[in-house]
Amino acid sequence: MSQVNKAIIDINVQVAPVYKAQSDAFGVLDYPFLLDIINKNGLSKVLDVGTGEGSFLIGLAQRTTNVAFDAIDLNKNLVEIGKANNEILGLGINFQHANFGENYAESNYDLIMARFAVEHIVELSDINSFISTTYEKLRENGWLVIIEYYVHELDIDDSTWSKFRENELATYKSIKAHPRIALKLPESLRKAGYKNIRSSINHISPSTIGAEFFYNLVQEYTKIYSKITPDFWTNELTDEIFSWCNKNQPKGEPLLFTSYTVGQKTVAF
Ligand SMILES: C[S@@+](CC[C@H](N)C(=O)[O-])C[C@H]1O[C@@H](n2cnc3c(N)ncnc32)[C@H](O)[C@@H]1O
Repeated sequence: MSQVNKAIIDINVQVAPVYKAQSDAFGVLDYPFLLDIINKNGLSKVLDVGTGEGSFLIGLAQRTTNVAFDAIDLNKNLVEIGKANNEILGLGINFQHANFGENYAESNYDLIMARFAVEHIVELSDINSFISTTYEKLRENGWLVIIEYYVHELDIDDSTWSKFRENELATYKSIKAHPRIALKLPESLRKAGYKNIRSSINHISPSTIGAEFFYNLVQEYTKIYSKITPDFWTNELTDEIFSWCNKNQPKGEPLLFTSYTVGQKTVAF
């Protein structure tokens, strides 16, 4: 089995609030982006790999009609939360506890999406085989969309924000996650056979997604990072970041980044 970070899988339901904050914050850009691909190409059979507790996918399903969604995750507890929420909302998403590439048989998808999942696969060779498996499980002309976080070095002259960014990178390194996997993905897609490959980086800031979503996300990240790697997220630093977020008066505009990598199965330009 390809090795996925235990830190991410084992942490269980504590991650639900951070995934929800990510859905709210990045969803401002991610929903229109995915809806554009789904609607322009008339896609109706979609798989979300590494769906977590499904909050992002539920938001996507609520914005579409006539699309059948399958959703899988390695983490059974998160899948159960997704199932329960889906039941309440009556969206018809098919949540399953499964490991993509190991014990998941369904194929012939119009679109496979993976959001913040690939960065947690430890070995680059396993990332390549993950991408090859997506290719096998798409129908002809089907689409792959990979959305990832991107830990950039660019910074503003604000000491609290600098500490957040430095520690974030340290957390990624410490759990062997890939802070800039976006840079490797286009080549990986090409090697798997994908065509029409596109890759882009998005600026996530109070200006692009709104101050409330932005600072809420920074607080949720601080909480989860300090659970995963408490050694360098001291209580003092956590308090400093929380009050910095609440004041909402940084010296300059703080920026986070995400990446989109898109490919299509076999169609020529
Ligand atoms: C950081 S979470 C992202 C959750 C969700 N996609 C979101 O955007 O909020 C990544 C999830 O991918 C799952 N995952 C990683 N590799 C997987 C695989 N091969 N099969 C199924 N789930 C996988 C992990 O268990 C984890 O819950």
